[in-house]
Amino acid sequence: MRESDYPMRPTWLEINVDAITNNVKQIRRYLAPSCELMAVVKANAYGHGATGVAKVALQAGASRLAVATLGEAVELRLSGLACPILVLGYTPARLAPEAMHHHITLTVYDYASVMAFQQAAAAAGQSITVHIKINTGMNRLGLSVQDAPQFLQAIQHLTGVEVEGIFTHFATSDLADKRFADQQFHRFSQLLAQLEQAGLRPPIAHAANSAALITMPQTHLQMVRAGIALYGLHPDPEETRLPESFQPALQWKAQIAHLLHIQPGDSVSYGQEFVAKQPMTVAVMPVGYADGFPRTAHNWQNVLIAGQAAPIIGRICMDQTMVDVTHIVMHAGPLTQGDEIVLIGRQGTAAISVDEIAKRLQTNNYDVVSRILSRTPRIFVKGANSLP
Ligand SMILES: Cc1ncc(COP(=O)(O)O)c(C=O)c1O
Repeated sequence: MRESDYPMRPTWLEINVDAITNNVKQIRRYLAPSCELMAVVKANAYGHGATGVAKVALQAGASRLAVATLGEAVELRLSGLACPILVLGYTPARLAPEAMHHHITLTVYDYASVMAFQQAAAAAGQSITVHIKINTGMNRLGLSVQDAPQFLQAIQHLTGVEVEGIFTHFATSDLADKRFADQQFHRFSQLLAQLEQAGLRPPIAHAANSAALITMPQTHLQMVRAGIALYGLHPDPEETRLPESFQPALQWKAQIAHLLHIQPGDSVSYGQEFVAKQPMTVAVMPVGYADGFPRTAHNWQNVLIAGQAAPIIGRICMDQTMVDVTHIVMHAGPLTQGDEIVLIGRQGTAAISVDEIAKRLQTNNYDVVSRILSRTPRIFVKGANSLP
């Protein structure tokens, strides 16, 4: 790695292309050849970088993409991706022309929205493709199972509205206890059977997220929507773990911005919350809360430098964080500006996993990675550890 190849900031995410390719292939091994894989790349591909991940996933065996918002979908389309892209969230009718212009598929679950979409389609002389969302127990977005047949009956002949799909979402498929997920799937299956009989079943039915695609094969239907497994992260680290064949794709690295020596009584950072009790060596890390490195009481706690844990000291700033490297300098030798820091990933024999950070932050692994803000460059590398 030449100095000139470093990203534009002394902190970056390394996204392992081979890991994503591998994970897509592992997912496909669970699926019948006819079952489509929709790669869920919302929230900047759970922080991994949406366009880069989408391209790799499509090459490796996914055929469609899902995002949360129309803006995310348009960004992918403008990056040159031609595959179907589904917006999973709410899209106000005023955005229908933009969706049609970019051939983006929208989720609908109410009659007023479909009618507004139809009017927009007629005005533009185009048609709009939609998937119907059914609420089977998550009680987030969706039309009730009871209302669905009448709804589909009412919209089936609308010109300019193509109903391509119907889907639901599980609330508990990541738990070992599948009773509620089974109940949700039972409600959805009954509805599909009823629609089939009435000649109203849309061609693509989908329900499974990562946890369900691995642990509930009966839910695969015509397509699965995989997010967290693509990234090699466990749907739940205790109750639904991925097999060993999956690999985490993300590492977060930085370089030491500055080293300083402080004396007993010297304080570090805003508010003087940390005061040294003995002579210390402090490393400044060029990462702060405006990178998605939380300033809250439950924080990262430590990072890796020279293969050892360096604890955070003092308040985390917007762009910088100080860490104690006294013990590292004493035992492992001198450090210099530019030396590697690992926030997530491996360094020598030490490692910090996303699940470990999730525990420290008292949250889940989805939250840890998706909160890493976009000003941190994402570098796509082949194989692990290819940047020093
Ligand atoms: C509607 C919907 N489908 C699929 C997914 C993907 O879930 P997972 O990342 O657990 O595979 C999500 C993510 O939260 C979602 O909201």
